[in-house]
Amino acid sequence: MNTVGMDAFYTPGEVASVMVRCVSAVEVDRVADFAVGDGALLDAARLRWPKSELMAVDVDPMCVLEAKRKSWHVRTATCDFLSRRSTDGSATLRSLKGACDVVLLNPPFSLRGAGREFATLPGNRTVRSRAMAFVVHGLEFLATHGELVALLPASTLDSVRDAAAWEFIGSCHEVSVVARYERGTFRSATAATVVIHVGPGRGGDVGPPSYRPLRRASRAMRVRLVRGTAQMHSLVGGSEWQLIHTTDLVDGSVLPLHRPVGMSGRVVVGPCVLIPRVGVPVEGDVAVVRDGKFVISDCILGLECETEAKADQLARQVREDIVALRSLYGGACARYITVVKLRGYLEARGVEVEVVGRS
Ligand SMILES: C[S@@+](CC[C@H](N)C(=O)[O-])C[C@H]1O[C@@H](n2cnc3c(N)ncnc32)[C@H](O)[C@@H]1O
Repeated sequence: MNTVGMDAFYTPGEVASVMVRCVSAVEVDRVADFAVGDGALLDAARLRWPKSELMAVDVDPMCVLEAKRKSWHVRTATCDFLSRRSTDGSATLRSLKGACDVVLLNPPFSLRGAGREFATLPGNRTVRSRAMAFVVHGLEFLATHGELVALLPASTLDSVRDAAAWEFIGSCHEVSVVARYERGTFRSATAATVVIHVGPGRGGDVGPPSYRPLRRASRAMRVRLVRGTAQMHSLVGGSEWQLIHTTDLVDGSVLPLHRPVGMSGRVVVGPCVLIPRVGVPVEGDVAVVRDGKFVISDCILGLECETEAKADQLARQVREDIVALRSLYGGACARYITVVKLRGYLEARGVEVEVVGRS
């Protein structure tokens, strides 16, 4: 697959999962990705709607071949989605116009050729960024009830170059930002990104979309994220503090071990949800400590909550979404999650996060 630089930012599984879950339709017959790459978005779509027909389109024939090779129910086309001649010349693409229930896009972000007119809007206005042109063209393929979800550079929300495109989209669709990922949240992401959802609503807003977090918590959820610092090999003796290590997180609770230490690292205060920082967790490793103050080892991240009920609710939510959480653990040896990634994961789920101390 021949993409380079920002074009080659394939969607991490976690983001693909967020993008698919923000679609409100439950029954979906046809899903299309017009820049399919290695198929991450269609893979996520297949998990949510196993019976849907998947349309894989890319300008790179290798990507299209790979999509064909996969065992899923997929139709393919090789075409330049930004060239009217290329899309009109494809019988497959012609048949898809106005016929897709869901369009998923992680278009190329590249600014190469910036200033070029990539698409035309009513009133002789033009779209001058590749990513936004993908969104504008993608809308032509939506059925009347259809929904489009795209991962875009966050800069597009404030860019003068994209203002006309947002105005056009907002005039006929309901548009919102459902997640935001800061630069560096994912290894491959060289820019801050946003997930935008375009629904079938009548629209009426004429500016860039505003923020609507995915699965908004019913009552505002705020946590303090504490990364443990106590190193197991250099604990200071003492009796005044209890230490919690990852091996103590069992079946959603903390084992009542008595392991007193001297003050040797960061402390969490219950109610608090504890998650292993090192070692990919299973559901039971997401534990709630109800009250008290504890030193946590450097293999643990703590999420201090306002009430016990909120800690239980958050732990439940994280366990239900453990697959997405697990996908964020990286590293060659012992796999670990960074504070930045956990913060992105929580914020995408409507949780307000304050990071305590330096991470
Ligand atoms: C950033 S990747 C996204 C891949 C995939 N959808 C994902 O989410 O991981 C962008 C893809 O767009 C394709 N692409 C770039 N320009 C294109 C164009 N004009 N028409 C169709 N596909 C294009 C590239 O070949 C690449 O596979």
